[in-house]
Amino acid sequence: MEEREIYKGLAGVPVDYTAVSKVNPETNSMLYRGYPVQELAASVTFEEVAYLLWYGELPDDRQLAEFEERERSHRGLDHEVKRIIDELPLTAHPMDVVRTAVSVIGASDPETPDDSPEANLDKAIRLFAKLPSIVTYDQRRRHELEFVEPRDDLGYSANFLWQAFGEAPELAVVTAFDVSMILYAEHSFNASTFTARVITSTLADLYSAVVGAIGALKGPLHGGANEAVMHAFDEIGMGEGSAERAIAWLDDALANKRKIMGFGHRVYKNGDSRVPTMRDALERIVEHYDRPDVLDLYVALETAMGERKNIKPNLDYPSAPVYHLMGWDTATFTPLFVASRVTGWTAHIMEQAASNALIRPLSVYDGPDERHVPAKG
Ligand code: COA
Repeated sequence: MEEREIYKGLAGVPVDYTAVSKVNPETNSMLYRGYPVQELAASVTFEEVAYLLWYGELPDDRQLAEFEERERSHRGLDHEVKRIIDELPLTAHPMDVVRTAVSVIGASDPETPDDSPEANLDKAIRLFAKLPSIVTYDQRRRHELEFVEPRDDLGYSANFLWQAFGEAPELAVVTAFDVSMILYAEHSFNASTFTARVITSTLADLYSAVVGAIGALKGPLHGGANEAVMHAFDEIGMGEGSAERAIAWLDDALANKRKIMGFGHRVYKNGDSRVPTMRDALERIVEHYDRPDVLDLYVALETAMGERKNIKPNLDYPSAPVYHLMGWDTATFTPLFVASRVTGWTAHIMEQAASNALIRPLSVYDGPDERHVPAKG
């Protein structure tokens, strides 16, 4: 076999430059277009972060007002998209529904083949605006509830919660949800973003790249981990005594060589920069819903995982119980990640398109030596 160094999983291999975000594992920090993500989460809205990722700068008041008006005007969902979602079985995973809905929007949009930066930005803003309708339409149909029309007097996160639950959300809930959207928005060349860039590098359209990215995000080693964290919480059982049960559950899971979802990271080996901000949000939400047992379980599992394996939580660990306490279905957690990450994906799609090179790595063949089809007869 040919001797070549193999970079399995592309671990540690830089493949391009990006100006969208910087992940710095040495200092556990992350910057969106130069701004620390913690500062953004504390001081601006998710709409401002979306604007920043796409335009490279935070909006001034006039720019923000125009951007918000544009986003709010695209929140509705066409009858055709609803009809096709209705055709899907209720057993379909919500990620499959979201992936299909984006595909339908792409197939129906006359702007799909136009890959000019202006058209791509238009498409990105429209998808960003429509994803809450898609995600909530699907969650509600599973409960046999009518679609809740979007409201254009509410910000992105307040409207998202309104469409999900049909009642005006409380400020504490809106704030925690907005923080989660900001923290999930972007993370350099993660698997789904890289997938989107690979697809874009073939000159395929933006919707195709987003559909591929949704497929990559579904897996439990990536976005699907937030759903998987909740399954672990359910297995352990929330409520009184959850902390003791968590430790026994962990020992059993590790003895069975199970991966503990919501822990570990390909880039951060010493803690995920986004976790402290999301953990603060969890503490506020636990207080809001008066569910200290959830925080007890959270702390017990985190502490035991640190002691047993010295592996720290990633963003999916605190965000899962936050979404659960807000009332989201567990299977909707990863679609919430899609609604946020579509901003980062599309920023990368536009960056890739602006400075394209077909992404096509090499492989080293280790199959059978050359051989020949035996002559017949
Ligand atoms: N639970 C148990 N063990 C874990 C672990 C976890 N969550 N994460 C890493 N490890 C262990 C691995 O088993 C491996 O041990 P070994 O060397 O004895 O075989 C070692 O730590 C290195 O892990 P590896 O999977 O090779 O690292 P990676 O960089 O390829 O993986 C993840 C990173 C994210 C895929 C991995 O940490 C993981 O599977 N985490 C759970 C899923 C998750 O939360 N994903 C969301 C990421 S934001």
